[in-house]
Amino acid sequence: MENHTISLTVNGQLEQLQVPSNLTLLHVLRDMLGLTGTKNGCEAGECGACTVLVDGEPVNSCLVLAVELDGREVTTVEGLAKDGKLTPLQEAFAKLNAVQCGYCTPGMLMAGTALLRRNPNPTEEDIQKALVGNLCRCTGYQRIIDAIMEASRQGGAR
Ligand code: FES
Ligand code: FES
Repeated sequence: MENHTISLTVNGQLEQLQVPSNLTLLHVLRDMLGLTGTKNGCEAGECGACTVLVDGEPVNSCLVLAVELDGREVTTVEGLAKDGKLTPLQEAFAKLNAVQCGYCTPGMLMAGTALLRRNPNPTEEDIQKALVGNLCRCTGYQRIIDAIMEASRQGGAR
């Protein structure tokens, strides 16, 4: 398999990487960069556990080839907190117990962050639409929706 050199800015840090043509962003993040906060659930675009932001938009990193992302900016769950300070959305997930096993949580946080950045005051329906590609098997969705509403009251995504 041919290797390609790409530049990616990941959580504000420029990375030069040699990647084979068939390597997905999910595997670059987890296996090459050690950013294991991004979860591998289905590897088929069904669960949203692998959601990250590419140039601010939520994408399923299991469906994107790394070679397509040369020069782009990627944010993972590790890039949300700054200087040890959680974002209002992360705080709200903890405060409202919007986490049980936690496997879906990074993807939920990234989808929620993207929503709050483009719409700081979403309705419950807006949130349901934004999370349509993110599955949670154990918390139930109401606490997650409540946490996003709470974050919107506490300053949004940051
Ligand atoms: S691991 Fe990507 S959508 Fe499930
Ligand atoms: S908290 Fe377990 S899948 Fe959502």
